[in-house]
Amino acid sequence: MCGIFGYVGPSPHGAKIVLEGLKRLEYRGYDSWGVAVVPASKGKIVVKKKAGRIGKASVSDMPKGSVAFGHTRWATHGGVTDVNAHPHLDCTGNLAVIHNGIFENYESIKQDLIKKGHRFISQTDTEVIAHLIEEYAKTMMLSKAVQRAYNEMEGLNAFIVIQTKEHLLLGVRNGSPLVVGFGDPENYLASDAAALIPHTRQVHFLEDDQMVIVGTDQVNIFNARTGERIRPLKQKLTWSAEQAEKGKFPYFMLKEIYEQPGLISEIAGESTIQAKKIAEVLKNAHGAYIVGCGTAGYAALAAQYLFSAISNRHVNSVIGSEFGYLQNFLVKRSAVLALSQSGETMDILEGVKKAKDKGAKIVSLVNVVGSSLWRLSDVRLPIGVGPEKGVASTKAFIGKLTHLILLSYAMIGKITKGQRILTRAAKAATEVLKEQRVSKIMKLAKKLKNTEHIFVIGRGLSYPAALETALKIKEISYIHAEGLAAGELKHGPLALVTKGIPCIVFAPNDETQGANLAGAMEMKARGAYIIGISPKKHEVFDYYLPVKDVGEATIIPNVIVAQLLAYYLAIERGFDPDMPRNLAKSVTVK
Ligand code: M6R
Repeated sequence: MCGIFGYVGPSPHGAKIVLEGLKRLEYRGYDSWGVAVVPASKGKIVVKKKAGRIGKASVSDMPKGSVAFGHTRWATHGGVTDVNAHPHLDCTGNLAVIHNGIFENYESIKQDLIKKGHRFISQTDTEVIAHLIEEYAKTMMLSKAVQRAYNEMEGLNAFIVIQTKEHLLLGVRNGSPLVVGFGDPENYLASDAAALIPHTRQVHFLEDDQMVIVGTDQVNIFNARTGERIRPLKQKLTWSAEQAEKGKFPYFMLKEIYEQPGLISEIAGESTIQAKKIAEVLKNAHGAYIVGCGTAGYAALAAQYLFSAISNRHVNSVIGSEFGYLQNFLVKRSAVLALSQSGETMDILEGVKKAKDKGAKIVSLVNVVGSSLWRLSDVRLPIGVGPEKGVASTKAFIGKLTHLILLSYAMIGKITKGQRILTRAAKAATEVLKEQRVSKIMKLAKKLKNTEHIFVIGRGLSYPAALETALKIKEISYIHAEGLAAGELKHGPLALVTKGIPCIVFAPNDETQGANLAGAMEMKARGAYIIGISPKKHEVFDYYLPVKDVGEATIIPNVIVAQLLAYYLAIERGFDPDMPRNLAKSVTVK
């Protein structure tokens, strides 16, 4: 989950280049940060590291040097302190390591190293890697020592090593992502391709067990288990540098919310061929499963309703982390549609790999082209919403829904009808973002800012909308929010309703409307404050947020209203919506 960035080249400003790279990567982890540089003037590696966010950090006090790397941390082993921040040094101070992942058997190895005289100063598993390589490098070349250490490590890990004697970055990957960026005449290693965009668009995504030795004008890739040489598979990144910047917006999340109407139109216009291709795979499958985690899991649930309502088809939606326990009935002709923004979510990758081993066909809807999920899929469709940097997923969710609506119509050969509905959805989304509408949402956020609990209810397609709304509210405003199928209220949750508790109700113009409003009535009768998101103002609403009715695609403007409410709740409560506490953008651990 951590951010990794390394540079090797002719520039003496290695530390500065790395710091800038880390600032673009901070969404991957923001407990602490650190940079290390091999000084051009010789001597030991110089490290600067601190607990807390990278913010306006500077490395102008670091020496000049053209081999440097850095890390933004999402803590696993050891508390959030300066000492536990990466990079970690060996005993000599001539070798440093940054690491993403969990080194599972580090304790026994650490004990052996202590017996051999190594001194540890942090509580991290990462520091053990530095000392283990130091130990092996006493009797072999550095690259061999890295390889040997890697082969002793259990768990899913990616790490990079620098050493004072070598003008190189040595990296290796298993599970956690690592991307080589090819510059001229300089090269990079990073945990995310998006961080490389200002420098290069030519990349190689390392596969598991690949080790790379990166110099100023050489990139050598090997199989870390066998030592066999591997030819880089260069891919071209298509994202632009501007797409990865905040521009005029105060936060990425707000920028990403505002990008949505344009993206809906783009996807509806450009993705028909792929939608038809995937529709054929799903039609020929013997059972189809749609999987995703968090927000992507709610998109998967929405797909189940869309396929039922539009395509008269049954698909099973499954939460990524549970998918591994539901696979006994997978057969060779099963299809798995995996949804993921990052394409690196471990809970998805593990389930999908198991399904692949059983012979299931893997179809993926992924935003990061070239990511692990992308590479292990048989059929791929890019979500195509550009880099999403806010930890709270917004445009990737709306992008997934847009594709899924198109796909549902493609299943019945009516893709043009799907496109028409989506064009209306894009307009409805634009309206939701008009100043007057947004100020109504801001006013509501002011009113709700001190509340401790919020209920969100809906039925049918509004049920995944309710779950997604609750997730957005809790992850960035830290208000406890509970998303529910409205019909479930009377089966238990009504017991929690007290006077004044806010309840958001989705009441689109569909078969669920009457029952949704009845749920709201039940809440109101017990004192709840009802916030209605609906094309029509109903009597039961205490506060009304209008949205246009756009058929099955009404979930799109509905969720955009909810995203804005969550965003302004976070702002009202004084929190940074882009970097919620305890979370990181891509969840590469189990
Ligand atoms: O990259 P992915 O789409 O696979 O990520 C899945 C979830 O981790 C992600 O959606 C998470 O729930 C977000 N923080 C939600 O806003």
